[in-house]
This record gives sequence, C-alpha cells and structure tokens, in this order.
Amino acid sequence: MSRSCRSYLLWFAQEHTEFRFAEIKSLLSLFKIEMRFIKQPKDIEPYWLVEFNSENDVKLLASRSVSLKNCMELWAHGKTVSELHRKMKEYPMHLIKHYFEPSKSFKIEVETFCKHVSQQEKVSKIEAFSYLPMCGRVDLKQPDVKMQYIEYYGIEANNPPEEPYDVFFGRWVTSGLRQLIKKLSLKTRKFIGNTSMDPQLSLLMANQAKITEGDIVLDPFVGSGSLLVAAAQFGGYVLGTDIDYLMLHGRTRPTRIKQTIREKDESVKANMEQYDLSHRYLDVLVNDFSASFWRNDFKFDAIITDPPYGIREATEKIGTLKKNYKVKEEHLPTHIPAKIDYGISNIYGDLLLFAAKHLKIGGCVVCWFPVFREDYNEKCLPSHPCFTLTANSEQGLSKVTSRRLLTFEKIREPTVEEMQQYTCNISDFREKYYEAREESRTERRLRESKIRQDNREKHELSKSLT
Ligand SMILES: C[S@@+](CC[C@H](N)C(=O)[O-])C[C@H]1O[C@@H](n2cnc3c(N)ncnc32)[C@H](O)[C@@H]1O
Repeated sequence: MSRSCRSYLLWFAQEHTEFRFAEIKSLLSLFKIEMRFIKQPKDIEPYWLVEFNSENDVKLLASRSVSLKNCMELWAHGKTVSELHRKMKEYPMHLIKHYFEPSKSFKIEVETFCKHVSQQEKVSKIEAFSYLPMCGRVDLKQPDVKMQYIEYYGIEANNPPEEPYDVFFGRWVTSGLRQLIKKLSLKTRKFIGNTSMDPQLSLLMANQAKITEGDIVLDPFVGSGSLLVAAAQFGGYVLGTDIDYLMLHGRTRPTRIKQTIREKDESVKANMEQYDLSHRYLDVLVNDFSASFWRNDFKFDAIITDPPYGIREATEKIGTLKKNYKVKEEHLPTHIPAKIDYGISNIYGDLLLFAAKHLKIGGCVVCWFPVFREDYNEKCLPSHPCFTLTANSEQGLSKVTSRRLLTFEKIREPTVEEMQQYTCNISDFREKYYEAREESRTERRLRESKIRQDNREKHELSKSLT
C-alpha cells in the first residue's frame, strides 16, 4: 500500500445488512469516489478494510451513508492483541506524530464487539498503548483526536470466543448518518399510513437513487409520503401521486392503535413541515398511475416507489368491466370512477414504461418487488430495454416470501415502438401468496368482501368530501 492512500476501517450497522453493498456502490458512483478493498469483505462481518485516495472521499461517503456507523484511519490490524501491538510499534510514527502533539487533547475508545468486558478491563486495554508518544491532555468529551481500539469477537453475542478474531486500532475520522433514522422515526411522525416505509429503508432507497441537491423526484404510489421525506432530506424537490383520495387528504382510518380519529392537519405536507423540509415539497396529486397525465417532455431525475402488492392494500386502477359504459351528463360533476384490478405485470410494466419516457438518462428507478423465494430467479424480475439493473437486494418477509429492492438505471431513450404499451411478463405474487397461506375459498371470499366494503366506505367518504 502506498502511504498516500491511507487504509480505512468502515464499521457498519448490523441491521438491513443486505443493502450495504448497494448503498455504498451508489454513493461511490454518485460522488465519483474510488474505493479499493484491502481484504475482500465477508457478508457476515460488520467491517470493511478499504483504501481511499483522500480522507475527503471517506468523509463524503459517510456524510450520506445510513449503513455506515463509523470510519477510522487504520493504523494497525492483527489477528491477536499481541500482533496488533507489534504492528502498531512498527508503524511509521512520522506519519501520525502530529496527532500526539502537546496542544492536542485525545481519547482512546475501546469497543469489544459482541463481548462484554468490565470498565477495569477497558482501562487496562487503553494502558497497553502507553508506548505511544501522546503528550496532550486526555479529554473524554470533545477530544481533538479520538483513537479507537476494537476487538471483534464475531457476531454471536451469546457465544463469543475467548480471544478476538480480529483487533483494530486507529484514528476515528467520521460517523455515518445513523442519527437520521431516529430523527425520522415513524413513532413520532405526524402522518403515517398502514404501509408507511421504515425511515432506514426510505433513506437507503434515496441513496440508491443517487438523489442529489436540486433533483426532481417522483413517487407515483406515494401513500403517506415516507419516500418523499427521505428524498427531500438529501436535497430532492419531491412530488407524489396516489389513487387514494382519502390517503392524500389524511382521511383514512388512523393507523396508530390508540388514535380514534385523524387530526385535521395530518398530511404529507405536515410531515415535510415537521422535518423543516417544506421548501423541498412540490405537491401530491390524486392520480391513477395507469393513466399518466404528465406532459410528454417532462423529465424527472429519480423515481423511488413502493408499488402496491395487493396484500395489505388493493391493487386497483380506474376502469370498468361493463361494456359501453357511459356516465350520464348530470352525474359527471360528482362522479367517482369505478375501479378494476391492476395486475402486478401491468403495474411494473407501466412503471418502467413511464420511467423510460420521463426519466433523464442516468436517472434511477428504485422500487420494491415482491417474490416467492422458491420461485425466484433474476429472469422473473421486471426489465425494460432502456434500463440496466444495477442493484438487487433481498429483504426476507416470511419463510416463503421476500421483497427485493431493485435499482434500474436509464441507459438510453426509448424508440417510438418502445414508447407504446409495455407489459412485464411476471407471475402474479398475490395468487401464489394466498395459495401458500392455504387460504380457503370462504376465507378468501370474506377477505375480498371486506376489501370491497372498505372501498365502498372510502368511495362514499370521498364523495362527501369532494
Ligand atoms: C405500498 S403503498 C405505498 C406506501 C408509501 N411508500 C408510504 O410510505 O406510505 C402503495 C400505494 O399505492 C397506491 N396505489 C394503488 N393503486 C394505485 C394506482 N393505480 N395509482 C396510484 N396509486 C395507487 C395505494 O393507494 C398505496 O397508497
């Protein structure tokens, strides 16, 4: 390793680990950062050993990453404690001696990953570094230089080995954006719905979509707008559409168990105000995605969305199965159109066709896609000739089902033929879902009649509100 490229230890959160690679890959591409692995990472390990060309690169990466917890400049790495200290003693001191000047306060932090050790043991681990020429005063609150000593005992907290597998020492450089997850928690959010997206996943989606300052971002199945919050947080100007009038007007049944009626001012806009993001909010509009109303030449920078799967909410579009159906002139002003089923193949076909027309080249569509684990192979994913699939990570939902977070990057404009209808040839998740649950015909009839009843109530309420 050349000394101009420093080694860094990236320490990740052990949560939603399956999205780690996709997030970091997107951020490296967004900021045009080069990163090289010193050691090929293993999926189960919470750390990566890497090289960057400059420390600014690692700071930039961490300034956007929600998977990343901490990052340190690695001074020594050993398989045992004695190997670590031997290597640290051999480290070219002239490269780091300025951190030990008398004017610089310092602190050494000890972490034993997956093993509890007493405070006294921690102190003796710190004292083992007494050979370092530190001259400044110790400051435990706001040190000028924070060093980190980490012993890694694997990931099984209930059964850690006697000795650590790996030991690391270095200078803390920066932290990731984990605090944002708490700030955007659904527990304290003004307006949520039954399918509001968890903030960590929303932020990961916005990162995978490479959203940057000034981008125009659309969620065409916006619901309570969780994805807009994340996109706005990273500088996007956001707008959304949804077929559900009541949802967009904050008039659906309350989601929180203890809440009996919704507050008057619950809305996507109120969420934006809650997080001081109003200046990023363009609007939300009631729209059936199968009937696009956008000007042909209008382009978005990114589309992030969680389309309906038909399990917790209906998958519907405007339409009727009645032949030659015509609404009488006098009913037109208050008419609320009937809806028909919107199959998964059509939803994803429409999404990629829409994105082919309305996304800039290089722009990304980031969306969830439900699958049956046993049936899964890449061929069953939606695809379109104008897009390349750049990320595909799985989140397990149950033993048999999962959803995959897909990122499609637009590589070219569609031809005239490709601007026409586009249906993805993918199997209907719902059919198999209910088969797998061995839902009896009666149960299914009851459940479907409940959805219909809910829809009738919604329909009536929408009428009374318009
Ligand atoms: C899984 S939810 C999205 C939840 C959203 N990400 C959130 O955080 O609240 C899917 C949304 O798609 C909407 N939807 C269903 N069919 C639609 C259609 N044809 N056009 C537009 N939106 C539709 C539903 O009303 C629902 O709000």
